[in-house]
Amino acid sequence: MRRAVDHSYTMKLVTAETYRPGLEGVVAAETSLSLVDGQNGRLIIAGYALEDIAAHASFEEVAFLLWRGELPDKATLDEFKSTMATYRVLPSATHSLLEQAAHHQVAPMDALRMAAATFDIDLGDVDDFTRAKAVAARVPPTVATYWRYLTGQEPIPPSPTLGRSANYLYMLTGAEPGPATVRALETYFNTVADHGVNASTFAARVIIATQSDMVSAVTGAIGALKGPLHGGAPGPALDMVFEIGTADRAEEVIRAKLDNEERLMGFGHRVYKVRDPRADVLADAAERMFASEGDMGLYDLAKSVEATALKLLEEYKPGRNLKTNVEFFTALLLHGIGLEIPLFTPTFAAGRVAGWIAHCLEQQRTGRLIRPDSTYIGPTGLTWEPVETRKG
Ligand code: COA
Repeated sequence: MRRAVDHSYTMKLVTAETYRPGLEGVVAAETSLSLVDGQNGRLIIAGYALEDIAAHASFEEVAFLLWRGELPDKATLDEFKSTMATYRVLPSATHSLLEQAAHHQVAPMDALRMAAATFDIDLGDVDDFTRAKAVAARVPPTVATYWRYLTGQEPIPPSPTLGRSANYLYMLTGAEPGPATVRALETYFNTVADHGVNASTFAARVIIATQSDMVSAVTGAIGALKGPLHGGAPGPALDMVFEIGTADRAEEVIRAKLDNEERLMGFGHRVYKVRDPRADVLADAAERMFASEGDMGLYDLAKSVEATALKLLEEYKPGRNLKTNVEFFTALLLHGIGLEIPLFTPTFAAGRVAGWIAHCLEQQRTGRLIRPDSTYIGPTGLTWEPVETRKG
């Protein structure tokens, strides 16, 4: 029998006015990296409206902007790109690890998390800006190399001349992608590069704030991104489009889902109560890519599924403001680029790594350890009993 527990001390401590489950509404950082304005549907990246920068900049320009606070001039950008390109060659330890992970059929996000921990094995004592370039450069080749091992194909060595996005697709397939496909992927990477103190970014900031290192922070962030509540769910949005198959079936299929109280994947958002600005940027990017290098039929079907879903969400959930979110067009775009569903979340990581690193650099400047409080709600006053006399 357990003895009676004294709860009086506990009761005094439960003054939970400041407790916010999930830290909702708690401001945990000041940042100059991105402004997520959920009421007005605005996303600002280091001063630039997302729709102004995402479709025009290269990923390297956005990474430089986030890490240095300004866009690079031409000579600086060329140098930045070519240094990053040299780090595409993965350490041999990373290759061996990926080969072993494929032997065990490890999921791509787990393989990326394991491999990320090896990214600095050959770097020595470089400064943080160099480390940032190496870490960000190595994510796409790791994902591509792992995919080749996992699917029983020889890995493809990186191209030293292609840009980061084109090289990713080249290392996945062995073919140089067309310009519209590269532009679409570049726009995707830019669109997801940073988004406030989301869960994986917060994880990175907590780790770096202990004066740990960037590779530890990025490895932890990859672990946080993997979960279905964060980066792990774009696949199902595409499944619905395929399940519908033809535009004339959209209303019937979506009605059945809503009658069944199912959630429509790719709609609704915790922060954005108007349309997610990333959805528009990705919809435009998808339209341009499908029009020149893809299957316009699939794009048209997705648009008509979207329109029907929005109409029926308003009918079934009036006043809830359920709009298209980033996942809907992410799924369509990445599928159109030719990526298989297991590659969607690792590809998200290949874009978000720019933001993780930027937040690490920013957090290092504040120097403040992140250490919230907790309210103890367990018992006190228990008395130690040796195992020999302890009763079950
Ligand atoms: N389809 C149908 N109904 C939805 C919905 C969706 N995608 N998203 C929310 N709702 C409904 C809820 O059932 C709830 O209805 P009720 O008030 O009648 O109970 C209402 O809208 C509010 O939902 P709530 O769970 O409070 O919203 P939230 O802000 O907590 O949820 C999401 C945000 C993203 C979790 C939610 O919209 C969702 O599950 N979306 C689908 C998954 C998805 O696309 N995830 C990727 C996000 S980027």
